[in-house]
Amino acid sequence: MSSTHPGWFAAATADLPVLLSDHLHCERKAAENALSLVRRYPHRPGSVEALSRLAHEETSHVIQVGALLARRGWVPRADTPNLYARGLLAEVRGREPERLLDSLLVAAFIEARSHERLQLLAEGFAAAGEAELAFFYGALAAAEDRHAEIFLELGRVLVPAADFQARLHALAQREAEIIGALPHAPRVH
Ligand SMILES: [Fe+2]
Ligand SMILES: [Fe+2]
Repeated sequence: MSSTHPGWFAAATADLPVLLSDHLHCERKAAENALSLVRRYPHRPGSVEALSRLAHEETSHVIQVGALLARRGWVPRADTPNLYARGLLAEVRGREPERLLDSLLVAAFIEARSHERLQLLAEGFAAAGEAELAFFYGALAAAEDRHAEIFLELGRVLVPAADFQARLHALAQREAEIIGALPHAPRVH
């Protein structure tokens, strides 16, 4: 995966209530996406348990982000369109099993990018002496890394290994283009 531009941290943290509101909705959408995969693919071996557990953990992240906002006296804002996720979802092909494979790979990339960004926030806040925020983002970053692996595991069994690697590579390039074209703003991505 490509690395986030060094200028991103300053832009992302320029408005902390807005960043945290966006983050809250990212966690909510991660939970919803996991449950929507349960709705669409209940018959996939292991997926009901793995995805429901993931949704449960994402929901706990919504609660944690909401609690941090509340501790600081900030009210969550309404969600705004996420051009990053929208760009990636446009790459999902229409026929099965490609549709499921792409849905899982897109989810894996969003998790992996979230992991990278939350880790950057943890490191940046640690350097700035913001201990509460550094600890908060460090804990969430570790969870998102595990989530990316779960989606990759679910996708790996769907197609031959060479096809899986080719699609992973193609989507990695597309993901880098999409994230690289977006302006830096107070949002996770
Ligand atoms: Fe999360
Ligand atoms: Fe996640």
